[in-house]
Amino acid sequence: MVQAKSWVMVKHFDGFPKDSDFQLKVEELPEPKDGEVLLEAVFLSVDPYMRWVFWNKLPEYCKTAETLSSKNPAFPVGSHVVSHCGWRSHSVSDGADLIPIMADWPSDVSLSLALGTIGMPGLTALYGIEEVLGLQKNETLLVNAAAGAVGNVVGQIAKIKGCKVVGSAGSDAKVAYLRELGFDEAFNYKTVPSLEEALKKAAPEGYDCLFENVGGYFSTVALPQMKTFGRIAVCGSISTYNDGTPQTGPYPHFTMIVKQLKMEGFTQNRWQHKNPESLKRMMAWLKEGKLKCREHVTKGFENMPAAFMGLLRGDNIGKAVVAV
Ligand SMILES: NC(=O)c1ccc[n+]([C@@H]2O[C@H](COP(=O)([O-])OP(=O)(O)OC[C@H]3O[C@@H](n4cnc5c(N)ncnc54)[C@H](OP(=O)(O)O)[C@@H]3O)[C@@H](O)[C@H]2O)c1
Repeated sequence: MVQAKSWVMVKHFDGFPKDSDFQLKVEELPEPKDGEVLLEAVFLSVDPYMRWVFWNKLPEYCKTAETLSSKNPAFPVGSHVVSHCGWRSHSVSDGADLIPIMADWPSDVSLSLALGTIGMPGLTALYGIEEVLGLQKNETLLVNAAAGAVGNVVGQIAKIKGCKVVGSAGSDAKVAYLRELGFDEAFNYKTVPSLEEALKKAAPEGYDCLFENVGGYFSTVALPQMKTFGRIAVCGSISTYNDGTPQTGPYPHFTMIVKQLKMEGFTQNRWQHKNPESLKRMMAWLKEGKLKCREHVTKGFENMPAAFMGLLRGDNIGKAVVAV
């Protein structure tokens, strides 16, 4: 028997989440039966999508976990997996929802990156660029929430592809990080006197591509800065996730007609059949020094709600993870 801790939502969020919306539970887990494995979390992920996943069901999330005991030969004791089984310190699985960590994961690369650059957020950046935008060399790309888990990888991949990259982020420290990563232009959207002027100044020629993570007001101001036939990959809309009442216009249609823009929403799992090859490609970029990683690590399973709320507030530079 093992004592398992789990976080559950006891009250639906009303606007921004609060400590009192979460409750920590402790339960005894039975030994795994034939075909099952007992997992212990090593790193847990907090992601913006959990804001709306929490709404309907128990939190679903990614964690890298180590197999503690196993009656499933596919997952021997000591092996590492990515699992989606709730905010839990320990869990029992029949293996169906487990993804083994890449077989030749280098020993000098933290397993936490399987939740970040070499995991779901990195894949989101790659598929948004390659499958949705079809980004071409010498094009100009704009990405917002650029210092976050997805955004920083978007900018770095666009640089690998020979593009001009403009990033916006919510603090001067984040802007400095974007410059360190090789972004051509970066600005703090919270302190620029005019978002419109900042976008114009960063790319007077206009934008071929927008990798949209923020939505809302940012999107309204950015669309008119697109070039004719510009492409927009709608990855996220974090500026609207905590709204009790949906934001209203201005609506984008007229700008889209005049500029003949193409806008496509996507979720990264559309291309999951490509994940093994894509993760290898990104690991190679990491080892070659073309892809840099930064993480915002919160220590302790007890601090998961705080880490989650910090992410929604913008505390993180790079991927927000919890180390158990
Ligand atoms: N479509 C998909 O498959 C997929 C997959 C993963 C993520 N996503 C989406 O991609 C976006 C980025 O996710 P992530 O995991 O990389 O998170 P992240 O960027 O690491 O963290 C969220 C960031 O959003 C910014 N933010 C928070 N509130 C904001 C607001 N009101 N206005 C503008 N920016 C705000 C904050 O940065 P600042 O300090 O810069 O404001 C914060 O650090 C999210 O919208 C997420 O839902 C989509």
